[in-house]
Amino acid sequence: MKNPRILITEPIPQTVISHLKEFGEVTVGEKGQYNSEEALIDVLKNYDALLCMLSTPVTKKVLRSAPNLKIVANFAVGYNNIDVKTATNLDIKVANTPDVLTEACGDFAMALLMATTRNFYQAETYLREGKFKGWEPLGFLGMELRGKTLGIVGMGRIGQAFAHRAKAFGMNISYHNRSRLPKQIEEELDCSFISTTEELARQSDVLSLNCPLTSETHHLVDKDILTTMPKHAILINISRGPVVDEEALAEALHNKEIAGAGLDVFEREPEVHPRLLSAPNCTMLPHIASATFETREAIGMLAAKAIIKVFNGVPDKEISNLVTG
Ligand code: GLV
Repeated sequence: MKNPRILITEPIPQTVISHLKEFGEVTVGEKGQYNSEEALIDVLKNYDALLCMLSTPVTKKVLRSAPNLKIVANFAVGYNNIDVKTATNLDIKVANTPDVLTEACGDFAMALLMATTRNFYQAETYLREGKFKGWEPLGFLGMELRGKTLGIVGMGRIGQAFAHRAKAFGMNISYHNRSRLPKQIEEELDCSFISTTEELARQSDVLSLNCPLTSETHHLVDKDILTTMPKHAILINISRGPVVDEEALAEALHNKEIAGAGLDVFEREPEVHPRLLSAPNCTMLPHIASATFETREAIGMLAAKAIIKVFNGVPDKEISNLVTG
């Protein structure tokens, strides 16, 4: 197709927009403009391609209202915001952005773990509030990482990138995954497979969520898992908010049933549970794990290239980042 009409739901790196403009007729929405089904349904009949955010609800209703749509390219690796099954049935292709954000997310998981175990947020707030009156032998003591067990739920690319980094900090790595990793990768990572999330939660000093959000992983971390975790343990979540029952987590943090949590994602983004906001032992960030200049440009380019390849008639099997339902 010549000059396809492409909707980019909100501003992304300019290099990516310019690249797509050489290929089609591009419209860029405003921040949050297309975060509702209604807004999308209103305009999508006028577009051949959609480059959307993880906050864009590409539901059955939305897809059915878009007779010209050929491809939805998500500006994210997680694509739980898209009804892929309906898209596949309607012959609309769906692309995500694997690989390009792995290292940024691995770095970030490590940083969030450090910030949480060493009380960065609480200590910085204390300093900014003018309470720092000098070095204290018992001030802001945290958990050391060497020799502790990091339990990773979801040992895909990002889980493995985190494991590599944690290993360098002297941590022992255990994991649970839908399918066990090949022996060679387990040996390289020096990690142990644990057959259930419950057992992993019981054995881990740090439990990290790196799995996609699916119907199986929704509320995977619930009251029972939180009760199973040791009292000194920390929960890290950079996957998707609904993998955790936030209400149960807030209770566990307030009641000191676990020692803390580091969260980059929330159940009802951009809302944050008020009981989490008031939990003293919780480090929270606004979904920024992949937020580096390099990575966000690479994410955009990978999404844009999928759109261009689809309109250039490249066969599906040669577009490595297409997903199907
Ligand atoms: C970010 O959360 C992503 O899925 O890319």
